Amino acid sequence: MEGGMRRWPLVYQILLVNSAIVFLGATFGTAMTRTLASQSSAALTATFAALGLLLSVLANYMLLRVALRPLRGLQTVAELVTAGNINVRAAVKEEEPALTRLGITFNAMLDRLEENTRAIERSRAVTEQLTQKVLSAQEEERRRIARELHDETLQSLATLVIYADAAHNAAKQGDTEALGEAHAALRQVAELSLTGIRAIIADLRPSLLDDLGLAAAVRWQAQHRLESAGVRVDVQVRGEGRRLSPLVETALYRVIQEAITNILKHASASYVEIDLDLSQPDRITARIEDNGTGFEVAPFKAGDAEGVGLFGMRERVNLVGGELAIDSSPGEGTEIRIAVPVQPVEQLETMASPSL
Ligand SMILES: Nc1ncnc2c1ncn2[C@@H]1O[C@H](COP(=O)(O)OP(=O)(O)O)[C@@H](O)[C@H]1O
Ligand SMILES: [Mg+2]
Repeated sequence: MEGGMRRWPLVYQILLVNSAIVFLGATFGTAMTRTLASQSSAALTATFAALGLLLSVLANYMLLRVALRPLRGLQTVAELVTAGNINVRAAVKEEEPALTRLGITFNAMLDRLEENTRAIERSRAVTEQLTQKVLSAQEEERRRIARELHDETLQSLATLVIYADAAHNAAKQGDTEALGEAHAALRQVAELSLTGIRAIIADLRPSLLDDLGLAAAVRWQAQHRLESAGVRVDVQVRGEGRRLSPLVETALYRVIQEAITNILKHASASYVEIDLDLSQPDRITARIEDNGTGFEVAPFKAGDAEGVGLFGMRERVNLVGGELAIDSSPGEGTEIRIAVPVQPVEQLETMASPSL
């Protein structure tokens, strides 16, 4: 019988119990009054009132204690969650419908919380990994620049000092022939190191890019890095001379630079095609294709790429709202396609001259 009553909503249970008490009090009290007619009515009233009150309080207390027991469970779970344990769940029993619903909602909330927490943890781990990669790439780049400066500059400067000394000695001895030789050597080394340092500077940040724009800078790269390494290059540009925002120019330049670095480092290619289309009003596209070894792209698509290069290329393109696609397979060469949205030319022109 108790089980049957428990399925009722709490409000009805309370009403029922209290009605029962009032009913019992009324019938029992009336019967007792008849039997105990000789007693003083004040004492009787007090006794019945006290009994009725006691019974009512007791019954309501028991009922509420039992009915609200699930609330204590919810409270315990809430405390555990607050302490950081998001795996716990409330036990949902079919007792009081309102509490059952509360338990279910509470658990659903915890499911969401757990899901979000896990997602945040995952993305934090990925960010940490990438930051680590970016930092070590930066360090590697600095090491490379230091190495180049060391090889190109220090050697030449040391040689210059030697020739300068030789020239000084020759002048002191009045040996014009030796002086001439030392001067010629001095000049040659100085010119070589000038070229070397210019190349290092241009590689760091080509003034061509700022002065003449993307197409010129890409041509320069193709010549100075690919052709000089014996790789045949065909650069096709449409819309030559169009200038883009420095952000887009730099992004595209760096991406093409990394693509060329990868070709030199990994592809063993003999021929490279670079297409740059600046002629479309609302988008810039670029394509870099090599006839080299190619590689398996799938693991890089899954996001657990080893190299920071391909990741950096994609990130740079994404940052300016564009897309990058890599098409490659072992033995088939590699094709990289980039598309970056830009403001239509007309719009840029109106923006440049706001006062009409
Ligand atoms: N043009 C290419 N030809 C052949 N393999 C390539 C080419 N570009 C990239 N790869 C492959 O993809 C890998 C990842 O490239 P990347 O992310 O730039 O890293 P890294 O150049 O530092 O190795 C390279 O190690 C290489 O195996
Ligand atoms: Mg690379």
